[in-house]
Amino acid sequence: MVDILKVSGLSVETAKGERLLRDVSFALAPGERCGLIGASGCGKSLTAAALCGLLRPPLSVTGGTATLEGVELFSLSPKMWRKQRRGAIFQTFQSPGTALTPTLRLGPQLTEAARISGADPRRVVPEALKIVGLPADTVRQFPYQLSGGMKQRSLIAMALILRPRVLIADEPTTGLDILTERDILRALDAMIEATGAALLFISHDLRAVRAIAPRTLVMAAGAIVEDCATDALENASHPAAQRLGQAAAELEAPC
Ligand SMILES: Nc1ncnc2c1ncn2[C@@H]1O[C@H](COP(=O)(O)OP(=O)(O)OP(=O)(O)O)[C@@H](O)[C@H]1O
Ligand SMILES: [Mg+2]
Repeated sequence: MVDILKVSGLSVETAKGERLLRDVSFALAPGERCGLIGASGCGKSLTAAALCGLLRPPLSVTGGTATLEGVELFSLSPKMWRKQRRGAIFQTFQSPGTALTPTLRLGPQLTEAARISGADPRRVVPEALKIVGLPADTVRQFPYQLSGGMKQRSLIAMALILRPRVLIADEPTTGLDILTERDILRALDAMIEATGAALLFISHDLRAVRAIAPRTLVMAAGAIVEDCATDALENASHPAAQRLGQAAAELEAPC
């Protein structure tokens, strides 16, 4: 199958030449679900930011290519990149509040997403809210009136409406209780099933990765050090991947 996203040799540096991502390469097939894990500060969110055109000075892409459905992302103009970001690649954020406009109720924000994707908001907005398990009257709420889990689900509803080819979910369940975590994983699962998007699922939580992604990339110090089946992580060759796999297995083992 032809890859939908192909990242090759991606490097990100600060203006002073400190290299934060080095030679990051991976590819996603259409509809594939892949985890991206690694210790705090290893470069997971930077990878997402680079692929969504959201790096800001002093950081910039200093090498490599990223091709999405045949379009080379790093050579796009800012305007074209904004268009890609809405339609072809979409990111949900570690702090979802920053991705929603604080002064606008959720309804108009989802209606705008429908306008971008050329769908009828009267049909797709209630449908998306239902799929992610939010009550229909959430459209009247401002973002500050939503809990962290509800904000995450609002972003997943937005992704459902925009129907991107690739969804990057950056720590969508971190800091949430286990029931909310389950609801968000179900919402993500429903989004992928409904749209056929490929998913890059960034998380610290190997249990969540296991629930949603059969394949996992492990990152350490700005580089991908392992690319393996999620349930083979314990036996992975790189020590960073082994440590993550074993630590998760120990936490899951009965005391
Ligand atoms: N604007 C910036 N300027 C300089 N360094 C930065 C900037 N943003 C991030 N970094 C550095 O890049 C590295 C990777 O950060 P990143 O946010 O990608 O980590 P992460 O893997 O997502 O961690 P976490 O799991 O804690 O979210 C870190 O060392 C961080 O300090
Ligand atoms: Mg991060």
